[in-house]
Order: sequence, then C-alpha cells, then structure tokens
Amino acid sequence: MLITKQPVFRRFWYPVVPMNQLSDTPYAFTLLGEKIVVWRNAEGKPVATEDRCCHRTAQLSLGKVVDGKIACAYHGWQFDGCGSCVHVPQLDAPDGIPKTYRVRAFHCTERYGYAWVCLEDPLIDIPTIPEAADASFRQIQEFYEPWKVAGLRVMENEFDLAHPTFVHTTTFGSEDHPIPDALDLEELDWGIHVTGVLGVVNPDLQQKNLKMENRDTVRTLDMDWYMPFTIRLRINYPNGMSHIIVNTMTPIDDGMSQMVQFALRNDTEADTATTDVIAFDRAVTLEDKRILESTDSDVPLRPSVEQHMMTDKPGLLMRKKIAALLKAHGEVEQTRHGGGVESDRLVL
Ligand code: FES
Ligand code: CO
Repeated sequence: MLITKQPVFRRFWYPVVPMNQLSDTPYAFTLLGEKIVVWRNAEGKPVATEDRCCHRTAQLSLGKVVDGKIACAYHGWQFDGCGSCVHVPQLDAPDGIPKTYRVRAFHCTERYGYAWVCLEDPLIDIPTIPEAADASFRQIQEFYEPWKVAGLRVMENEFDLAHPTFVHTTTFGSEDHPIPDALDLEELDWGIHVTGVLGVVNPDLQQKNLKMENRDTVRTLDMDWYMPFTIRLRINYPNGMSHIIVNTMTPIDDGMSQMVQFALRNDTEADTATTDVIAFDRAVTLEDKRILESTDSDVPLRPSVEQHMMTDKPGLLMRKKIAALLKAHGEVEQTRHGGGVESDRLVL
C-alpha cells in the first residue's frame, strides 16, 4: 500500500511539530506528500496552510510571521490561519482584496505539546491518552526525527513480541525467551487494545540499563493502536512504576515517516533522571530503527504477499482493519505495482 495514493489517510490527525520548536518563524513540513507550512497565529495557537502562495507560487515558509499572519517573501501578501489573504501591500484599500486571493488551510490544533494537522475532514479525534491527563504522570518529549520507513511497519513492530530476543540484544531482550507469551487482542472501531505480559527480560541488562535490582523480570503490557499510525505502549514494572510510550509515525510520503515520540511516567526526576529515560529509550529505538529501515515501505495489505507466524497476529489485524477502512471509503489498495488490488482473507 502506498499511503500517499490512499486519500483516506488525509482524514486523520498527525503531530507535525513540537510546539517548543514552533517559534516566530514559519515551519515547513511535508505531510502525506503535501507541502504545508505551520506557524503561530496572534493568540499563539498553531495554524497550517499549503506552502504555496496563490500569487506566483512562492513557498510561504520562506516568508515571515507578522502579527500572526504569514507574509510571503516574494511580494509581501499576507495570509491568516484560515488561508484568506488579508493584506496586499500593493493595494490601497484592504476591502479591495479579491476573495479568490486565498490558499488552502488545514485543520490544526495543539495537543500533548505538539501541533497536530489533519488535511481533510477528520474521521476521528486525536487519540485520547489517559495518562496525559493524570497529574501523577510526568511527560517527557523524546524523539522527533525522520525515519526511512512506512509507519505501519513501526506500529506492527510495537506489538510484535518475537523481535526483542533478536533486536533488543543490548537493552532488554532475552535469549532465554524466544517464544513470547500470547497477547489478548480486543478489536475496537478505530484501533486495537492489547494486553499481555512481556515475559522474561534479560536480568543482567535490566540491572545494567534500568538500575533495577529486582530480579523479577516480568512486566505487564497495556497497549493501544490508534488508526492509522499512533500507538500507546504502557509497560508496568514489578516495582509499581509505569512507563508509557506514545509514538506516532507521521507520514511524510510513501517511504518516510516523522518519528514523534514522548513518554509518560509515574516517577520523578529524583527517581530517574529525564536524560536517563531518554537515553534508554534512544538505545531501544535505534535497535528497532536499524531493522525497520531495511524493510519494504510498500506494506502489503493482502496476507498472501508476505509469510506470517502467530506473533504477527496484531499486525495482521492492523492490516485487516486498514483494508476495511479503504473499502469503506471506496478505495482499493494502491501498490508500487499498480492499483486495483482487492484484499484477500486473513490466514491466521
Ligand atoms: Fe507570494 Fe507574490 S508570490 S506575494
Ligand atoms: Co522493538
């Protein structure tokens, strides 16, 4: 599936930039192949439009923000967050600005410290992360960087418990536990809820990396996949600490995703320094990144294209739900080899 060729993905929200990186200058981003520009309006709220002036097509992101409007760098036309041209320096009367002087504006709002954008009528709201509203949890911004991978591969990887033994060899994976415990899957309208245990974690790595003396290496997992490219992964440690990872793979184009990740924890800076939290999650994600960037970004929805095993069940359910979404919106899967591919039945 090539996501830029499936219009339904334009109807979901994606975090495009951390608010603390949105200064008083315009911010350029490519979302689903669409070049957009994000800036703060006069109230400090994020707004987004196409990154192309309606006059002579110059990139608006080359311009500057003036009183919450974006001013084109070429001839100074100014646009508000709704995309209307509100100032033309070459015109005397402001009410003489034709209504056709406008650029496309996109849905844009702030949540969890990020500016989220939806290119067309949202099908559902931004995912609700319960711990983000819980005062006993602190939020830590972790990563914001491009990965050469399809977002769906990363979503599947989060729920694939067969990979830590082989991939997370320096962080927590255990060679003694190649066959993971089964997960409980619950299918929701707009995602999947998964619970289970992360069985044996390598005790030596646990002591070295997490400074946990406790020899009990079993964690419980509580995970959500929110269609299409956001996951919430809650890991409950034996000592009562919970570490939640919220990761969105914001789609840049068919082969690239912006990896956006923050953590929520019910401990304090005195328990674990923020830098240590980030350093451990950095090591884990780099182990994943190396493998994931080697995978094919044209993720097939039809189960007959790749081979599967039992631990792929959550990922296959994701593919099935995305196939159903396409079908519900009158789309057929578009692949690098062309379109018109009907999804066949799941084998697991
Ligand atoms: Fe933008 Fe002329 S191209 S004002
Ligand atoms: Co991993």
